[in-house]
Amino acid sequence: MSPTHLSLSQARAERATWIEQKFRQAFPAGPRPAVVRAPGRVNLIGEHTDYNDGFVFPLAIDRDIVMAGRPSPSTEGRIELCAVDYEQSASLALADLEKERRDPSPEQPGWARYVYGVIWAFRQAGFPVGAVQAAFSGNIPQGAGLSSSAALEVATATLLEHLFHLQVEGPRAAALCQQAENQYVGVNCGIMDQFISRLGRQETALLLDCRSLEYRWIPLPQEQVSVVICNTAVRRGLVDSAFNQRRAECEQGVHLLQQADPNVRQLRDVTAELLRAHAPHLPPTIARRVQHVVEENARVLQTVDALSAGDWRQVGQLLNASHESLRDLYEVSSPALDLMVELARAVPGVYGARMTGAGFGGCTVNLVQKEAVPRFLETVIPAYCQQIQQPLSGKPEAYVCRADDGALVLQEFSA
Ligand code: GLA
Repeated sequence: MSPTHLSLSQARAERATWIEQKFRQAFPAGPRPAVVRAPGRVNLIGEHTDYNDGFVFPLAIDRDIVMAGRPSPSTEGRIELCAVDYEQSASLALADLEKERRDPSPEQPGWARYVYGVIWAFRQAGFPVGAVQAAFSGNIPQGAGLSSSAALEVATATLLEHLFHLQVEGPRAAALCQQAENQYVGVNCGIMDQFISRLGRQETALLLDCRSLEYRWIPLPQEQVSVVICNTAVRRGLVDSAFNQRRAECEQGVHLLQQADPNVRQLRDVTAELLRAHAPHLPPTIARRVQHVVEENARVLQTVDALSAGDWRQVGQLLNASHESLRDLYEVSSPALDLMVELARAVPGVYGARMTGAGFGGCTVNLVQKEAVPRFLETVIPAYCQQIQQPLSGKPEAYVCRADDGALVLQEFSA
């Protein structure tokens, strides 16, 4: 075992012990709980392509949610939850899951819906899942586009699979978590975040075909180049409604292009030629959205090739082009994201910088030569703080992230 592995497993063991203690404070009597973890993610490239059946290339990051839990002792099947970081608790009878989905009660905290949603989705799919008691805590910045919600869903799924002895393939589990978010929480996200949180692997990024759900881990050698995440600390206002609106625009694009070519089932099927021929007949907004998706899909595959060839310069250029496209064609960037990207690109040794995730705020991802990292960390955030001209919801920060494992059981349940 290498020293990194040793310290990594030690760090995980410490977090497992800590969340178990918190669990025991919330739920004193009963057997020792299981402990699971699920990470957040950063997407290298392939933005707003997943729900268009396209390609994405994310990695799981070394920030996660840890969750301790055990089957509920209550005879009526009551789910009991504790969000340690918010010092809040919530509970719901299994029998009320569907009612709560249809008619959300204002007394239920927002975070609880992600957990209820996953339990609901597993039960809908026919898995014999009962109620649980669970406590969780995380260190993924929230509302920053690093998928803390997907991590909460995937941690819940991992806990359920372990406690109720389910054999669920990773892609299926990710799809159930996505279903929870789409149908229980009400956000029409694609499958990328849940998939990488479940199936990420250390020192790799994952190329996923969101149509077939075929995937490949691509080594991400981080000896020469670092992945640096910068958080703009600008809250992503109205992200859910704007997100759903983009999805609707893509569907409209499919609908219109189907009239030209009936083989178009999703924007994934639109070729550059088809787009060139028909873009002038589309409403301009729809044409811009479609162009982004078609070109972004191509960029993902080019990035994987360039990365495999060790051509970091090319990878960086593709990342830069992705940002420009998200800013000008898909229109999901923001002044804060654009500023952070511009400041990053001005640092010598930066190969590429772009917004990552849904957009409208949140984080950027940067590919930085190892030797340039100290300079990057010293300069980008101070310059950003000086130049940003809008209120911040927290402290902007930059950190070097490591590509980490997807969901894991850290401690088994012992009744
Ligand atoms: C959010 C969604 C993902 C994906 C990205 C944009 O993170 O949850 O499914 O659509 O935005 O690429």
